[in-house]
Amino acid sequence: MDTKILKIDPDRIDNSKIDEAAGAILEGKTVVMPTETVYGLGANAFSKEAVAKIFIAKGRPSDNPLICHISNRDMLSDIVAEVPQSAKILMDHFWGGPLTIIFKKKDNVPDIVNAGLPTVAVRMPSHPVANALIEKAGVPVAAPSANLSGTPSPTTAQHVIDDLYGRVDVIIDGGNSKIGIESTVIDLTGEIPMILRPGYVTINDVRKLLGKCEYGNSKGEAGTPKSPGMKYTHYAPKTPVVCVIGSARELELFLMKENRKIAVIAQNANKYDFNADVVLSAGFDVESYAARLFYLLRKTDELDVELTYALLPTSKSGLEVAVANRLLKASGGRLINLKNKWSNI
Ligand code: TXA
Ligand code: MG
Repeated sequence: MDTKILKIDPDRIDNSKIDEAAGAILEGKTVVMPTETVYGLGANAFSKEAVAKIFIAKGRPSDNPLICHISNRDMLSDIVAEVPQSAKILMDHFWGGPLTIIFKKKDNVPDIVNAGLPTVAVRMPSHPVANALIEKAGVPVAAPSANLSGTPSPTTAQHVIDDLYGRVDVIIDGGNSKIGIESTVIDLTGEIPMILRPGYVTINDVRKLLGKCEYGNSKGEAGTPKSPGMKYTHYAPKTPVVCVIGSARELELFLMKENRKIAVIAQNANKYDFNADVVLSAGFDVESYAARLFYLLRKTDELDVELTYALLPTSKSGLEVAVANRLLKASGGRLINLKNKWSNI
C-alpha cells in the first residue's frame, strides 16, 4: 500500500493538510497521528471496516481493545452510556492530556473497537495536531499506539515509518512526543477507581481528587481480563533487556564480571560510569527517563550489543511507577536484584 507522509508543525498547523488527513479518516483509511504521549494509529471508530485495518496493520490480537480519541466533550455522549461524577472531576483536571478513562459504552460503538467488552476507553489528547484532526473529522478516532504489536511504542515519526510504512494510508509527522509514555488508563465503572495502566497521571494525583484509587491487575473478579492489553509481551526490542534493582554503584560492581557486549540504560549516567560497551543516558529526572525510554529501547537494536541492563527508577510513587512498568514489560520479567548485595564493601 502507498503511504503518504504529511509533515505538520504543531505550532503552525497547516489546515489543508489537516483537511486531507481528516478526509482520509472519513474515507475509512488509516491515519497515524502524533499525540503528546506516543504516536497513535487512527481510524474512524464508527466504521468496523476501518478499525479492522488497524488490527491488520499492527498485527494486533483482536481481543485487545482500542482507545477512542475525542477532541471535545460533546463527542463523549455519542459513545458513552454514563458519565459518573468521578469522571467529570478527572476530565476537568486532566483532559486534554494523558489520561484514558474506561466508561460503560453505548451500542453504537462497534464491538471490534472494544473487543466485545461492555466498556469503552476514551481519551482527549492535548496535542494540537491530534485535536485538529479529530475535530475536523468530527468522529471519535480509535487509535492504539502506532507500532507493530509487541515493539516499543513510537515517539517519533521515524519510529512509525520503521514499523508501519507501507502498512497504513497516512502518517502525520508532528515532531517528537513530549511525554513519551502511554496514557494512564483508569477504570471508573466499579466502586473503586482502578488504574489499569500507570502513566503520567499518577495514583496520588487521582487520590487527591477522588479520595481513593487502587492499582488494578489485568484480571477482573471472575478471572476475565480487565485491561486485556496488559497480558501481552510489550515494548520489547530485539536485544534482550534485563531490569536491575539497585544503585548505579551496585550495577557498576556487578558489571565487572560481565564479559558480553552490553549496553546500560541509567539516569544521570555518562560514558565512563560503567564497564559497558555503550551507556545510554536516561536524563536527569524521571520526566526525561519517560520521554527517552522507548527511543532508547529502539536504539539498542541499532547497537552491536547482546544485552541491555536497565536500572529501574527507585521511587515507588509518581511517574517512576510507569517507567518501571514499561521496563519490566520490555524485559519480559528478567530482573536482577543487587540491592545491598555489596553493602559490606
Ligand atoms: O497514550 C495512549 O494511550 C496511546 C495514544 C495513541 O493515545 N494509546 C495507546 O493505546 O497506548 P494502546 O492500544 O497501545 O493501549 C490501550 C490500552 C491497552 O492496554 C488496552 O487493553 C486498554 O488500554 N483498554 C482499551 N480499552 C479498554 C477497555 N474497554 N477496558 C479495559 N482496558 C482497555
Ligand atoms: Mg500499545
